[in-house]
Amino acid sequence: MFETLKPLPADAILGLIAEHKNDLRQNKIDLGVGVYRNAMGETPVLDAVKQAERHLLETQSSKTYLGTAGDPAFNRAMQTLTFADSAPVDRLRTLQAPGGSGSLRVAAGLILRARDNATVWVSEPTWNNHVPLLGGAGLRLKAYAYYDTEKRAIDFDAMLDALRHVPKGDLLLLHASCHNPSGHDPTEEQWREITDVVVERELVPFIDMAYQGFATDLDTDAFAIRHMADKVPEMIVSSSCSKNFGLYRDRVGTLSVIGANPESVDTVLTQASNVVRTIYSVPPDHGAAVVSIILNDENLRAKWLVELSAMRERLTDMRQLLHKALEDKAPDHDFSHLLRARGMFCFLGITAEQVGRLKKDFGIYMIDSSRINVAGITPDNVEYFADSVAAVL
Ligand code: LMR
Repeated sequence: MFETLKPLPADAILGLIAEHKNDLRQNKIDLGVGVYRNAMGETPVLDAVKQAERHLLETQSSKTYLGTAGDPAFNRAMQTLTFADSAPVDRLRTLQAPGGSGSLRVAAGLILRARDNATVWVSEPTWNNHVPLLGGAGLRLKAYAYYDTEKRAIDFDAMLDALRHVPKGDLLLLHASCHNPSGHDPTEEQWREITDVVVERELVPFIDMAYQGFATDLDTDAFAIRHMADKVPEMIVSSSCSKNFGLYRDRVGTLSVIGANPESVDTVLTQASNVVRTIYSVPPDHGAAVVSIILNDENLRAKWLVELSAMRERLTDMRQLLHKALEDKAPDHDFSHLLRARGMFCFLGITAEQVGRLKKDFGIYMIDSSRINVAGITPDNVEYFADSVAAVL
């Protein structure tokens, strides 16, 4: 049977992890996968997570199945983290999901059940995995203009113009903050304008929030969601705890849905639970239990917020350090867009061929689009990185 299968190349992002690991050069740099790293280049378990895990170890009395929708205490805490008091609670339901990707996949199943010819509009560009993940589930995808690689900024006029031509009732996939891959987010004023078009065109916002707390703070980063929540009849939000809790491999996230009325959203919940049953039955518990302990304990929550701020500040510092180093080493090139980006990512703005040379000649890894994860920059490697970029430019 399997002789019919053709081998596939490694995933554009995850494949770089192995490539970098197998590179024996001492001064190699990994700017590929979106994983936070400290100044030592490590991704340690957060202290708040360690403490919550100790507590869990001592107090957990059973590992019996959770329901398809997961743990209600976790869901409540995550719903508040995502929506605060902005959403119509009688029309809002939240389910635990295995990471942001798991949440997106359940959302895709749900959308297809509601409307099997649904089209989801994604930003051009969008996260590498949005297209295979949502498209692979059977959704039809189309792109709307977003980032202008020439201007190195959001082309907001083109974006709005594209959205005004989206057929009524289609779904609009938006990144809540720290747009992946560009790092460029709309301003609050622009989010208001986007919301007006969403309302006017009767679009269903489908918001992916993978980086809450990595741009400005938890509340500011949720602005788009909270602003839209009480203006639209229906909305889908996929949230991830991979980055802000550093729980990458534990697979923690939520799927939240706002329905037109309480009855319809309860129906949605039964359908989403059934989609879950047909994919993975019940969500994994460990990471979600940890997040629930942290969010429901004042001291642990405060500790987590300090750790989250430290991660965010390091990203900002590294972005500035990198900008300064590139300005020094490659003064003929404009890298000011780095300073306008937020969160982990931005495009360096070099060609795929130059990306290839950075890998081959200097052991520097990033995806072909020249998206870099600024968390891979450290005060120790920034000079080498900037020298290498200058060499390939
Ligand atoms: C990334 O974009 O690098 C991260 O979201 C990790 C992933 O799964 O792609």
